[in-house]
Amino acid sequence: MSSAPPGGRAQKPPSSPLSFADLWRELEPIGRDPRTGGYRRFSWTPADAACRAWFTRQAEGRGLRVESDNNGNLWAWWGEKAGDAVATGSHLDSVPDGGGFDGALGVVTALAAVDLLQAKNFYPERSVVLAVLTEEEGARFGVSCLGSRLLTGVFDPDAARALTDDAGITLAEAMTAAGHDPGRLGPRADVVDRIAAFVELHVEQGRALAPLGAAVGLAEGIWPHGRWRFDFHGRADHAGTTRLADRKDPMLGYARAVLAARDAAAENGSLATFAKVIVEPNGTNGIASAVHAWLDARAPDEDTLTRTVTTIRSAAERSCAQDGITLSVRPESYTPAVRFDHLLRDRLAEVLAGAGVTAPVLPTGAGHDAGVLAPRVPAAMLFVRNPTGISHSPAEHAELADCEAGVRALAAVLEHLAGPR
Ligand code: GLV
Ligand code: MN
Ligand code: MN
Repeated sequence: MSSAPPGGRAQKPPSSPLSFADLWRELEPIGRDPRTGGYRRFSWTPADAACRAWFTRQAEGRGLRVESDNNGNLWAWWGEKAGDAVATGSHLDSVPDGGGFDGALGVVTALAAVDLLQAKNFYPERSVVLAVLTEEEGARFGVSCLGSRLLTGVFDPDAARALTDDAGITLAEAMTAAGHDPGRLGPRADVVDRIAAFVELHVEQGRALAPLGAAVGLAEGIWPHGRWRFDFHGRADHAGTTRLADRKDPMLGYARAVLAARDAAAENGSLATFAKVIVEPNGTNGIASAVHAWLDARAPDEDTLTRTVTTIRSAAERSCAQDGITLSVRPESYTPAVRFDHLLRDRLAEVLAGAGVTAPVLPTGAGHDAGVLAPRVPAAMLFVRNPTGISHSPAEHAELADCEAGVRALAAVLEHLAGPR
C-alpha cells in the first residue's frame, strides 16, 4: 500500500468517512416520484442537475478534482490526471419509474470505496477516476449510453444534437437550457486513452446470484441489443361510424407487431419487447392517425438478433399492407456483442478470492457503459446480488449488506489495480 501522497498531491480524507448507508440516504430522494416510488432522473432536467451537484460535492469533499468531458460525463480524479488511470463509476440517470440502484449503486459504491481506501491511508500510484456517464438509459433522447458513445466517437455529435425527446426538445436545446454547451460534444481520446481499466459495479438485473448464495458476481459479456423505432401511419376517423372495411387503423399493425415480437423471441431464444408507445391523437372515440412504438430486442448472438428483428418487421409489414397502413422502421441504437477482457476479469476474480469472495461469472442482457467502453479499454463489471432480480422498476432492490460487500469488493479491486505493481 502506498501510504502517503507524494509532495504536492492533495488528499483530504473526510475526518469521519460517510458510510455507504449515509451516502445512499443523501442521494435517495433526488428525482424520486412520491406517487410510484420510482425514479425520473432524466438527463438535463433539474433532477439530473441535482444528481450531478451531489456527486461533485461528494467527490470534491474527498479531495478529488471533478471535470466534465463536454459530453455530459463527469470525471472525478483522485491523483494526477495521468495515463494508466483506473476508472470506475456508472450512471445516475434512470428509466421512467426506474429503481434506485440501477446506475446509482455503481456511483455510490465508488465514493464509498474511496472512503475505505482513504481511511486506510491508501494513495493510488496510478490515478483513480470516478465516472458519472450521461443518458445511459437513453430514456429521454432514445439512444442508450449516449455519453459513452459520444466520448468514444461511435456516435456522431451532429446526430446527437438533433435527437429529440417526446416533447420535441432537442438535446442541443436541453443542454443549453441546463447551462451546458452542446457545441462541444464529441470524442475525447485524451480522456479515453488515459484509462488503463474501467470497472463498473452494477446492481444485478436478473436473479442468478441469489440461488448461488453469492453477494457479488463478475460479468462475462453483454448480449448484442438495440432499439428500433416503428412508425405506423393510418387515417384518423370516427370510431362510432367508420365501417371496419373502410378503416386504416395503425393500431392493428402495432398490435400484430407486439404479438410477432413475443413469438419471434420465443422461437429464437431471444428477447423482444415493445414497452414504449405514443398514439396520435390518443382519443378514445377516434381511430388513431399514427402509432409510434419502440422495439427493444436482445439475443445471445448477432445473427439471432438480426433474425428476431427481421421476423418482427416482416410480420408488421405484412399486416400493414393488408390494412392500408404505412410503416417505417429505423434503428435508434445498436450495441454489438460485448466480451469483457478476460485477463482483467481473471485478475479481479483473483483479487476477490484473496479477499474471501467467490464471484460467479455471469452473462447479461442489460446494456452498460462498460460495454461501450470495452472495445477501447480493458473493461470489467462487478454485479451486486438482486434478491428478486427485478430491475427497471421501483421494486428493484439490493440488501444493504450486499451493497457493502460490493463496496469492499470494489475497494479491493481499486487498491490492486491502482496500487504498487
Ligand atoms: C439499460 O439498462 C438497458 O439494458 O437498457
Ligand atoms: Mn438500466
Ligand atoms: Mn444501468
